[in-house]
Amino acid sequence: MPKQIAIDGPAGSGKSTVARQIARKLGYLYIDTGALYRAVTLIALRRDNDLNDPTVLADLAGSMPLEVKMKADGQPAYFIAGEEVTDELRSPEVNGKVSEVAQIAAVRKQVTQKLQTLAGRKGIVMDGRDIGTVVLPNAEVKVFLEADLSTRVKRRQQELQSRGFFLPTAAVEEEVRQRDLTDSARSEAPLKRAADAHIIDTTHLSPDAVVDAIIALIKRQKKSTRQKEGDCF
Ligand code: CDP
Repeated sequence: MPKQIAIDGPAGSGKSTVARQIARKLGYLYIDTGALYRAVTLIALRRDNDLNDPTVLADLAGSMPLEVKMKADGQPAYFIAGEEVTDELRSPEVNGKVSEVAQIAAVRKQVTQKLQTLAGRKGIVMDGRDIGTVVLPNAEVKVFLEADLSTRVKRRQQELQSRGFFLPTAAVEEEVRQRDLTDSARSEAPLKRAADAHIIDTTHLSPDAVVDAIIALIKRQKKSTRQKEGDCF
């Protein structure tokens, strides 16, 4: 059975919804890697830190007391020093600044180290921007999710509404565009499809259909691993 499943893609491509469901189906650990970059950003904003200071932000990334607990409905809840920050991590303020923080090489180094340590455990599903390329380059199954901009904007607007943030479509579109641009253009671990990742366009697919497509890839991988193992004998 593949141990590492890497799911990458731009904002609103549906990564976290499907990654969580796949982890639940497989009994694997789910890690939303964006939450770590969001937590660094939130703490830095609260402390009024200079978002261009790599030393301060990297220290923060290495030492932040971020905790995650699974709620009864299977959704993750995030805590910083005991305070729940689940909605705040996905606020418009954090959305507007997170890509700036995530492009700092020293921050990425700290976060990547943490993620690779976590991945030492048994089965893991991680979603993000650089999982298949940098964090888990040897993941047995890599998926790159895509969707039309208007669909991604609609999904993001609905998600913001569900958390109590009501923004006009144009503002959400501007944020998504800007984040896509910064994430793709940065020199350190940019948003990019790994050469061996399977592309799934989720524009017209329900989350369940995307989950089924990825589970099919995992089963196919499982079969080919078994065949390879068989060849050794
Ligand atoms: O959920 P959504 O796709 O909007 O974002 P996210 O996965 O929470 O990631 C938020 C931001 O963190 C991204 O726009 C990236 O700037 C950064 N990020 C990253 O650089 N690398 C990752 N592996 C995950 C997130």
